[in-house]
Amino acid sequence: SIERTLVLVKPDGVQRGLTGTILSRIEAKGYRLAELKQVAASRELLEKHYEEHVGKPFYEPLVEFMLSGPLVAAVFEGHRVIEGFRSVAGTTDPTTAAPGTIRGDFGRDWGVKVQQNLVHGSDSPESAEREIGIWFA
Ligand code: CMP
Repeated sequence: SIERTLVLVKPDGVQRGLTGTILSRIEAKGYRLAELKQVAASRELLEKHYEEHVGKPFYEPLVEFMLSGPLVAAVFEGHRVIEGFRSVAGTTDPTTAAPGTIRGDFGRDWGVKVQQNLVHGSDSPESAEREIGIWFA
């Protein structure tokens, strides 16, 4: 069925000038760009977005990283876009993400406490609707 997913180009992706490349890979796979904006996220917004990770060792470094510069928030739409985006993005660890994916082609481990992996995508229809409500209230 038609789904929507929240995509974030994280501060590393924006800072490295990869926003256009990342968005165009998602569009080129066939998904429709429904919403787009650049944002400087607040701590409050990030705490809502990452509420499921509270208490994990990478939580605080993750929030600090997401506060470190502007990011780009987008909503993409299409049949099975949640799975489809995750396939285009590659696995969480950019060092071993498959070549041909966003993380595999452009990411690496920089030896810091959080995986700077260029993009975020929702992991289920429920989290997509929750996250879209946070970023596009
Ligand atoms: P994201 O999809 O935004 O959701 C949580 C983020 O935490 C994830 O992408 C990574 O940036 C980061 N992350 C997840 N697992 C780890 C880990 N084991 N170590 C460091 N950072 C992680």
